[in-house]
Amino acid sequence: MGRIGVIGGSGVYDIDGLEEAAWHPVDTPWGAPSDEVLTGRFGETELAFLPRHGRGHVHSPTEVPYRANIDALKRLGCTEVVSVSACGSFREEMAPGHFVIVSDFIDRTFARAKSFFGTGCVAHVSVAHPVCARLGDRLEAAAREAGVTCHRGGTYLAMEGPQFSSVAESRMYRDHWGADVIGMTNMPEAKLAREAELCYASVAMVTDYDSWHPDHDTVQISDIIATLKANSQNARALIGRLAASGAASGPCPHGCDRALDHAILTAPDRR
Ligand code: ADE
Repeated sequence: MGRIGVIGGSGVYDIDGLEEAAWHPVDTPWGAPSDEVLTGRFGETELAFLPRHGRGHVHSPTEVPYRANIDALKRLGCTEVVSVSACGSFREEMAPGHFVIVSDFIDRTFARAKSFFGTGCVAHVSVAHPVCARLGDRLEAAAREAGVTCHRGGTYLAMEGPQFSSVAESRMYRDHWGADVIGMTNMPEAKLAREAELCYASVAMVTDYDSWHPDHDTVQISDIIATLKANSQNARALIGRLAASGAASGPCPHGCDRALDHAILTAPDRR
């Protein structure tokens, strides 16, 4: 059985209750990951946890070493990766404090390395369905067991940042692009997980209504932090429940673990 990898976002810098917990430095050909990786067990389930922004929150969304992070989790034997992150909401019903199990993405990031492939080895993986539905099912069950208010499905718009959106942008994403939530970190992470043949799913914790809502103030980092503080225990409870259900076994029914089977164009003798 594989290990469950967890990438924690703002406000989630460690995991408590892990047995045999230890932080390890991990080296990758893509440089150092955001921080050391915390490994340990919940009962029989092996877990590896990486704080996306580093302990002390030192990497901005643009500067997060996304390739090194995914590579480090792969090297540690993870077969699935759960992203936990803060997001703004474009939907009244997805209120601050709620969790959204993301089902699709719009990638508007532009200043980040987005692929493990390039010169020397060219590959084009499909990200038509960037989220693993099997892992999404397990996350939903874990969220319900943990008593968290959770919405299954929602399109996450990944923006570059670090500034938040203008009112005009916020309305465009909501009214014309069909996005449900917005954040700065799930891309290119999800694409890289697919290239690494890892199952990937994302729990987005709603902290604000971005800038579109006529009855709410525009987003401020202090409000985000306050909501995250109130919710980080829920995020930990969810991860605990997921771990209690064990890592997935057997091939992924959606083919996440075989994403490269027909994706590499470069001939084997030229790679
Ligand atoms: N993270 C939390 N809230 C956000 C927002 N409104 N926009 C982008 N990233 C966010």
